[in-house]
Amino acid sequence: DRHSSSAGGAEAEPDGLVFIGKEEDIKKSQRITAKVDGREIVVFYHEGKFHALDSRCYHEGGPLCQGEIEDIDGQACIVCPWHKFKITLETGEGLYEGINPLEPSLTPKWQSKGVKQRIHKVTIDNGNVYVNPPDLSVSFDSDYYADKYKIGGELAM
Ligand code: FES
Repeated sequence: DRHSSSAGGAEAEPDGLVFIGKEEDIKKSQRITAKVDGREIVVFYHEGKFHALDSRCYHEGGPLCQGEIEDIDGQACIVCPWHKFKITLETGEGLYEGINPLEPSLTPKWQSKGVKQRIHKVTIDNGNVYVNPPDLSVSFDSDYYADKYKIGGELAM
């Protein structure tokens, strides 16, 4: 029996998940922006994996959806187009290049500032890409800009 009677009419979606797009389409375009709970997010397809992050950079709200992806110390990072902050796609960590003054060589090394950018869990189901709605009981620096640029929110700028 092919009728799954879901009230509301639209395609049945896995519980609570937000539909982003077709897997094939995102693989082709490599990135797509979407709204999840009113916030702007971006989904990247990079080296065989999907990654979803808040689209507004945790630093000052730059559009990560327009950034370039770079490999830094073996980690794929999105580079913010505004001030070139680097954020790991996998974990949302902000990276910075620091020098340890106690080290004789004084070679800068990439270090983590911790998770700054909210990442979103991606689920692939039946050729469709979904993300989980954000768990707002945990907060991240990028939430400030996600709220500020929230769709439907008043923005006096
Ligand atoms: Fe992204 Fe400043 S806004 S680096």
